[in-house]
Amino acid sequence: MDVALPSSVGVDSPAKINLFLGVGPLRADGYHELATVFQALDMVDHVTAVADPGTAVQLEIAPGSGRVPKGGTNLALKAARLLKRKYKVKQGARLILSKSIPVAGGMAGGSTDAAAALVACNALWGLGLALDELSELGAELGSDVPFGLHGGTALGASRGEVLTPVLTTGTFVWVVATSFTSLSTPEVYATFDRLNATRDVPAPAVPRALLAALRRGDHEAVGTYLHNDLQAAAISMRPELDLLLEAGIDYGALGAMVSGSGPTCVFLAKDPEHAMELAVALSGTGLCRSAKIATGPVPGARITRAQD
Ligand code: C5P
Repeated sequence: MDVALPSSVGVDSPAKINLFLGVGPLRADGYHELATVFQALDMVDHVTAVADPGTAVQLEIAPGSGRVPKGGTNLALKAARLLKRKYKVKQGARLILSKSIPVAGGMAGGSTDAAAALVACNALWGLGLALDELSELGAELGSDVPFGLHGGTALGASRGEVLTPVLTTGTFVWVVATSFTSLSTPEVYATFDRLNATRDVPAPAVPRALLAALRRGDHEAVGTYLHNDLQAAAISMRPELDLLLEAGIDYGALGAMVSGSGPTCVFLAKDPEHAMELAVALSGTGLCRSAKIATGPVPGARITRAQD
């Protein structure tokens, strides 16, 4: 008996930040060994996969999504095409991508779009793949795609694709300050290598004290352990980020850091009221394009709408 498939599936998928990003030596495969703690935030991109009478997968970008790649390099499109090829799917799909996560901002926006496309097309085409199967496929597309699928707060090992859930208490309130410019992740890693060329880069490790603070819900302690090994590289490429981070600390942030490879910066607020004050104050510095409030942890890519 044929099971009716949906005519469209809508998926929300979260931005990520790294509460701790420890970067190890460059590996033979061109990646760096990482020890990281990811957290998913309620700043989301949305992908709708619509059944198409044709056999191809096509992409539309919703207005206001920023400068997103439209062609074959778009990670959502790559993800859907990879799924179709691997599982010999005959049907096509029209993907509609609507973004609010900054493009090339260090928040894994492209990777989370790939996660959303995998979840949407898995349902649209009735493949019934499990999260782990989608995750394995996602890791072929980018190191952060598996976390976009899982969400929450998680330890990331290897190049970031090997995940272990982390226990946390409470909701963390962040101010996310977006930048006027973008940074290329490979260029930031290359700068990290140049800055560290004269020393042996040790194997990275997440401090146990950070994990304990997350478990206790001690946000003040979490603020002191926020750390990003890519920060010095990002600041050397965008020196104004240092001023923005300093401003956040002056306005009472519990911690401040560059997110991932930057240039987005994130600030841990004491509570929602403080987040509001911090966001207004940071916007007023003129050092960022926008300052938005976001909370975490939230789940990974999930279906929010489906139509028969
Ligand atoms: O995996 P993803 O495609 O997101 O990585 C983009 C680039 O970032 C890689 O080509 C590599 O230059 C750098 N990278 C790295 N080590 C990691 C993750 C990413 O050097 N663990």
